[in-house]
Amino acid sequence: MRVRDFFQQRVDNVGMNKHSNRCMWACAALVFAAATWLGGPAEARPSPPPTTLRGVMVELQDVYLRLAQALFYDDYASMERLAKEVEAHPMPPGLVVAIKARLGSRFPGFERADEETHAAAAELARRAAAKDPAGSAKALGRLAQSCVACHAQYRPALRALADRSY
Ligand code: HEC
Repeated sequence: MRVRDFFQQRVDNVGMNKHSNRCMWACAALVFAAATWLGGPAEARPSPPPTTLRGVMVELQDVYLRLAQALFYDDYASMERLAKEVEAHPMPPGLVVAIKARLGSRFPGFERADEETHAAAAELARRAAAKDPAGSAKALGRLAQSCVACHAQYRPALRALADRSY
């Protein structure tokens, strides 16, 4: 909600009766039940093995979420350490070979997408070391862009490999 909408909403709520309150709780319960039934958010699932592409990715996601949290707590030391974790994230060598075989002539593009993620993480580590909040936020944005850029291009082609262990 925008701050400027706040007072307007309070005026609107003066007329809110018990019925709409009950309705709100019923809706909340329904959403909760649906979320539980569907299996809940991704973080509630058991972690996939780190020897699979999915496992590598889920670990990267975990580090990314902790990076965002560190940014909002002005925790530059954690941000720098976590950004370096993204830079140095493990990748089973057999998995790289399998990706190369699968992508063929598209593999150099995949390598460039990977390099952009590493470059963004390196920039974030530098901005965090300099205790620069705006620069860190920008670098975290660049990191997220680099993740989704690779997904947009290569996810469909590599889905079949996602759960193979290397
Ligand atoms: C060079 C390519 C590449 C980069 C860079 C990349 N990913 Fe991925 N990612 C993939 C591919 C391919 C898949 C699809 C495979 C799969 O379904 O697990 C994927 C899938 C995922 C998934 C879904 C896993 C699942 O269980 O469906 C998550 C989460 C994820 N990536 C997080 C990240 C994050 C966070 C970053 C950046 C820090 C990142 N990825 C960067 C290639 C990449």
